[in-house]
Amino acid sequence: MGYLLKFEQLLKEQLERVEKLKNEPPATDFSAVDTIKIGFIDGDGIGPVIMKETRRVLDELLKEEVESGKIEMRTIEGLTLENRIEKRVGLPEEVLAAVKECDVFMKGPTTTPNKTQVPFNLESANVALRRELDLFANVRPVCVPEKGIDWTFFRENTEGEYIIGSKGLEIGDDLCVDFKVTTTQGTERIARKAFEFARANGKNRIECVTKANIVKKTDGRFLEIVHKVGEEYPDIKIEDWYIDIMTANLVNEDLRKDFQVFVLPNLYGDIITDEAAQIQGGMGTAGSANIGNRYAMFEAVHGTAPRMVEEGIADRANPESLLKAAELMLRHIGYVEKADKLRKAVDGAAADPALNMSGTREGSSTVEFADAVLKLL
Ligand code: IPM
Ligand code: MG
Repeated sequence: MGYLLKFEQLLKEQLERVEKLKNEPPATDFSAVDTIKIGFIDGDGIGPVIMKETRRVLDELLKEEVESGKIEMRTIEGLTLENRIEKRVGLPEEVLAAVKECDVFMKGPTTTPNKTQVPFNLESANVALRRELDLFANVRPVCVPEKGIDWTFFRENTEGEYIIGSKGLEIGDDLCVDFKVTTTQGTERIARKAFEFARANGKNRIECVTKANIVKKTDGRFLEIVHKVGEEYPDIKIEDWYIDIMTANLVNEDLRKDFQVFVLPNLYGDIITDEAAQIQGGMGTAGSANIGNRYAMFEAVHGTAPRMVEEGIADRANPESLLKAAELMLRHIGYVEKADKLRKAVDGAAADPALNMSGTREGSSTVEFADAVLKLL
């Protein structure tokens, strides 16, 4: 197919998506669900190790609910790099079908190979899951009380550079083009999530982060829509920033204490939530929620840690990130007290001087960390 036709096709698909966005289903009301189904996907690398311990903690925390049938837990197999390479798809059909039978699911990190690792284009499982389940809000809290930091990032999770990120065009030998997409509807819904969160949590300020001075159409629209939605929330002030200076501001101790809630397009959100996680104490400490109206996925911010696996120290991986994701999951399904309890226990284990989650041979093990959490529950 000629590249102009391909481009036309991509635009058509996006316009069809916009039509769907106009008729979105309402968000699930979990208080009205008889049995909440929670799926568990191990992932690759250190994924199975940290998931096993997270599951052990959740089994204990939700024992009564599972016994009474209020909650059902399901293991979902098949989202491994081997299976994905064999089937040549980022997200095998049977995995997607199993996920769709659940209301929410926890997911370990999955490998996203690049061109030098796999000879064909294997899409990121994460990107595919977020797109197929329309998980539009990537919510990432970062909290460092002793530094006055209590941030919640609302990263748009389906559009931007990601939505047709694996369908860019190579034109002749010398020209490559990728695409960035912003829609009015897609921006409205992430903005509304951020403002609603701010209102419900007594926050009075939102940082809107773009590069609208340069990326004029897509980021320009994002900025415009955030302000338009913001008119419905006159009690919440919007501060506009460009991504470059915001990257610097996250390490500016004078300014950063004032930040509360961030709303930003996909790729910028990807980048500065890693920075924020590092400020909190490292990638192993941050959980992440991917929320849509029908489904939601909870995961660690970090990847599969292939180096730890190669060195034979996967059993030293820190499960804190995934346990924090479990906390976010509990909050999402309405189990707020259990979420608070889990958070307290995880913070307690993280502060325990007897544990050292350095991820090295000398460090404490994943099991030891989970044991400490269970003791504090
Ligand atoms: C994240 C990750 C993913 C992303 C990868 C694994 C596709 O970095 O969740 O932040 O880029 O969104
Ligand atoms: Mg990332």
